[in-house]
Amino acid sequence: MLKSKDLLGLRHTAPEEIHEILNTAELMKVVITSNNKKTPHLQGRSVMTVFYENSTRTRLSFELACKYMSGTASNMSAPASSVTKGETLVDTARTLDVMGTDVMILRHPMSGAPHLMARNVKAAVINAGDGTNEHPTQALLDMYTMRERLGGLKGLRVAIVGDVAHSRVARSNVYGLTKMGASVVLAGPPTLMPPRIGELGVEVTDRVDDAVRGADVVMGLRIQVERQKKGLFPSVREYRKYFGLTEERVALARRGALVMHPGPINRGVEISTAVADSPESTIDEQVTNGVAVRMALLFMLTRQKPEIGGI
Ligand code: CP
Repeated sequence: MLKSKDLLGLRHTAPEEIHEILNTAELMKVVITSNNKKTPHLQGRSVMTVFYENSTRTRLSFELACKYMSGTASNMSAPASSVTKGETLVDTARTLDVMGTDVMILRHPMSGAPHLMARNVKAAVINAGDGTNEHPTQALLDMYTMRERLGGLKGLRVAIVGDVAHSRVARSNVYGLTKMGASVVLAGPPTLMPPRIGELGVEVTDRVDDAVRGADVVMGLRIQVERQKKGLFPSVREYRKYFGLTEERVALARRGALVMHPGPINRGVEISTAVADSPESTIDEQVTNGVAVRMALLFMLTRQKPEIGGI
């Protein structure tokens, strides 16, 4: 069971809860890799994806997760909604709540938006990425992939490389991995490294080679051009040279190390095509595991809500 009605981030999620989510996802993965992708776990439940930013992986995997468990999945895309007429987030959330939505999955450019939504609705709220704050389901699927491939998380050295400053994926992974006993090293240009991030119990360096050397996992981050107000690195060519995941650089990692990326990838910028498509790359597996993790969360969050009539 999860302690909260919502999953807003990993900062306040207990290690035991993360453990239970990953264990439940293991059962869900059996379903999605079978020829009968149907369970009754969400029968009678309504799930709404509420997206104020674009998405391929997160939105569609939540919608598939819901459908695989026999729930009703709907989407509200902000540009096609009454948000364009000036409706506030809270008024929108209340409107969806009184339609009988059991779970709302929110992606929003403002850090803290899912927390605001959660305080104003009866539905469970899942954070699908808020500003530069957190993207907890991405970190959970990343941890699931590491655990499945490497047998556990405790003692792993995970190098997270790139645009850390704008990365909600990095922040959720830092919270989750350090709670689960992994050590994390963050590497990237100083202009793309948030001040005081080391206070979260991680190593920080601007030398990617040092971070990658001996790592069990090398995770590239997308350059988030859409969140950068001014140029924070001189050129793509220089970024690739000093901070990109190239074959030479990834060869410094431990033999058999995983190469991960949350996607979408900028090929030839933060990761070369050879590395992205290499046997060590888990980019496709991460997407598959995302469906399993999201099924687990939908199941766990609706299970703790009483059935209609107290059944
Ligand atoms: N990794 C991730 O969040 O991808 P989308 O933006 O496609 O959902």
